[in-house]
Amino acid sequence: MENYPKVTVLDHPIIQHKVALLRDKNLPCGSFRQLVHEISMLEGYEALRGLPTELRPVSTPIADTEQPHIVARNICFVPILRAGLGMADGLSSLLPEARFGHIGLYRDEVTHEPHEYYCKLPNNLSELQVYLVDPMLATGGSAIDAVRMLREHGAKKISFLCIIAAPEGVNAFVEKCPDIPLYICALDERLNENAYIVPGLGDAGDRIFGTQK
Ligand code: PRP
Ligand code: URA
Repeated sequence: MENYPKVTVLDHPIIQHKVALLRDKNLPCGSFRQLVHEISMLEGYEALRGLPTELRPVSTPIADTEQPHIVARNICFVPILRAGLGMADGLSSLLPEARFGHIGLYRDEVTHEPHEYYCKLPNNLSELQVYLVDPMLATGGSAIDAVRMLREHGAKKISFLCIIAAPEGVNAFVEKCPDIPLYICALDERLNENAYIVPGLGDAGDRIFGTQK
């Protein structure tokens, strides 16, 4: 990824450990959801590192002072439904006053093309720092389409956070969205013939919501 200055693969051992646990096909649904929550918090902590702060007055028991605060209402997290919802609470716990938008996309099982079914975003999106989130970046089609939708609604400052990415998806995303910072917890080997990430973790939405067979 050294040729991709906007791509960050988070190499913290705690994140790597939690992603390794997440991959286990025998992990129960509740534990899976809890790990996605924890990983999202840790990823958000890293991805929001560059946020601007403003000095605001605070009175401690000892003295009046000015201390840095984040203007959380200028932040908007946008999960891609369904699986992105699993990341929402972890991010929200970092900044409870942040706004949320939602984009609904599903991948056609045969063509693997994304299909839009929902979009609800704050009306002042152009003023907000937007963090688009989805655990999986496979072909990249869903993330690229979601960025297009965000831009059509005026978003100017966008970052994308995923948990597991395939090289194919990263290449496609960087080609179409070269200006967008991309954060990845684990960069896997490849896609299989069904466009699932190998080794991956299977279908993230099914595992978060317990809808798999
Ligand atoms: C999954 C995942 C991404 C997409 C990634 O969603 O959550 O949105 O696939 O694949 P891509 O990079 O090839 O587009 P899915 O379409 O399975 O919907 P779901 O979250 O409702 O299960
Ligand atoms: N979507 C998923 O949930 N998992 C994959 O491996 C690819 C797309």
